[in-house]
Amino acid sequence: MPTANISPLVVAELQRQLNQELAAAHSYQALSIWCAGQNLRGFAGFFAKQAGEEREHAEKIIDHLIDRGVVPDLAELARPKQDFDLLLEVAQWAQTMEQANTKGINAVYEAAAAAKDYPAQVLMHWFIAEQVEEEAWVAELVARVDDATCAGSLSALDRHSEELLGRKKPD
Ligand code: FEO
Repeated sequence: MPTANISPLVVAELQRQLNQELAAAHSYQALSIWCAGQNLRGFAGFFAKQAGEEREHAEKIIDHLIDRGVVPDLAELARPKQDFDLLLEVAQWAQTMEQANTKGINAVYEAAAAAKDYPAQVLMHWFIAEQVEEEAWVAELVARVDDATCAGSLSALDRHSEELLGRKKPD
């Protein structure tokens, strides 16, 4: 492992963010389980896939820290929110999480910019672009679920959730 050559403030922000990504993975797993419990198998699969993507996001930051001589520190995971009455509440919660994640990414970028840490800025460019996609599909999710006003339309949406929302995700 190389000797660490990175500002403590940037390390702190990257550590915070990688743990936020892991917390998001845990939360998406909870949304997947809630959907499975409601026989919404399409959404259960969609959120399970999203949980995997959030873990990949955390791993990108972990790899970056290790490459720069810092051993990442994993925080304790809080119990995720899993009490919902409606799919619309689930969708809105996912949107709240993504908006918080965008704020977290921006905070890392601001710390990296202030420290003139170019590698961390380049890493965050990927995350900033990713958050545009994340916020787009989650806004579409909220709108589509809000429009599904009967059991039949909700069931159709569940069946097609992957193709409707998944098309925005990177391969
Ligand atoms: Fe890692 Fe949903 O952003």
